[in-house]
Amino acid sequence: MRANTLRAAMATARMAMSSLSSPARALSSAAAPPPPSGVAMVQGASRGIGLEFVRQLLRRSDQGRVVATCRAPDSASELQELRREHAGRLTVLPLDVTDESTIEVTGAAVGETHGSLDLLINAAGILSIPNVIQPETSLSKVQKSSLLLAYEVNAVGPILVIKHMRPFLKIGASLGTGKGFSLVANMSARVGSIGDNALGGWHSYRASKTALNQLTKTASVELGKKDNIACILLHPGTVDTDLSRPFQRNVAKDKLFTREFSVHKLLSIIDNAKKTDNGKFFAWDGQEIPW
Ligand SMILES: NC(=O)c1ccc[n+]([C@@H]2O[C@H](COP(=O)([O-])OP(=O)(O)OC[C@H]3O[C@@H](n4cnc5c(N)ncnc54)[C@H](OP(=O)(O)O)[C@@H]3O)[C@@H](O)[C@H]2O)c1
Repeated sequence: MRANTLRAAMATARMAMSSLSSPARALSSAAAPPPPSGVAMVQGASRGIGLEFVRQLLRRSDQGRVVATCRAPDSASELQELRREHAGRLTVLPLDVTDESTIEVTGAAVGETHGSLDLLINAAGILSIPNVIQPETSLSKVQKSSLLLAYEVNAVGPILVIKHMRPFLKIGASLGTGKGFSLVANMSARVGSIGDNALGGWHSYRASKTALNQLTKTASVELGKKDNIACILLHPGTVDTDLSRPFQRNVAKDKLFTREFSVHKLLSIIDNAKKTDNGKFFAWDGQEIPW
C-alpha cells in the first residue's frame, strides 16, 4: 500500500476518535452481549457477507461501535452509506490481507480509536477471479499460482489480522463486557473439511480453508490460555453473493441463502458462543463440522 494511503488511514482513525462522544467505554457486566454494546471489527466488509455483518451489527443496537475494513474504502459505497446513516458508530479503514503493513497500520488505528475489541470477524475470501484463479474441476487444472493466491488471501491473511488485533482483543477480554472473553470468528467453508470431502475438486479453495482451519485451531490454543480470547470457524451455508454467483447453477433454491438469513444465523452462533467453543468449526445452523 502506498505511503499516502497509509497516512490517510491514520488520519481517518484520528478523526473518528475525535468524533466519538465517549473515548473510554463504560460497560457493566450486566450489559447486552459484546457485539451490540462493545466494539466489533469486520474485516472484508466492502461486499457480501462482511458488509451484511456490519449492517446487522449496527442495526440491532444503538450502542455498539463497528470497525469495518476493506481494500478500497472510498469505492465501498454501501459501507460509506452505512457510515453516514450511523454517524459516529462506524469507522471504515483500509486493509488488504495480502499486505501486512496495511494490517499493522490499521491495527494501530483501531488501538488509537477504540482501545479494545470484543469481536473480530474475518470475512474476506476469494474463490474465483476472472483470468487469475478459478475453482479447479480436475487435478490437471491445478496451478501453483492459484494454490498460493488462495492460501495467501484465505488462510495467511486472517491469521495476520488476528496477530495484529490480538492486543486489543486481549484488553476487550479483560473489560468484562458480559461474555467474559473476546471472540474471533473466521469465515471458513464446509469444503475445507477433510472428513467431509466426498466430491473432490476446488483444490485451491478447499486447501486454503483447511489451512485456515488448522491455523485458527492452533491460534485458539494459545489465545484461549494466555489472553482469554476464543476463536471459532464458521461456515455460512451457500450464500447468494458475488463469490458464489458463478457457481449457483446446481444449488437447489432452498439451499441458497440470502445474506440476511445467513448472517442472522451466524450472529446467533456468535452471541451464544461459550469459552468452551474455543477452536470449534460450526455451520450456519450451529452444527459442528468435522475436520
Ligand atoms: N458465499 C458463499 O456461499 C460462501 C460459502 C462458504 C464460505 N464463504 C466465505 O465467506 C466469506 C465471505 O464471502 P462472500 O460470499 O461474502 O464473498 P464476496 O461477496 O466475494 O466478498 C468477498 C470480500 O472479500 C474481500 N477481499 C478479497 N480479497 C481481499 C484482500 N486481499 N484483502 C481484503 N479483502 C479482500 C472483498 O473485497 P473487495 O471488494 O476489495 O474485492 C470482499 O469484501 C469468504 O471467506 C468466503 O470464503 C462464502
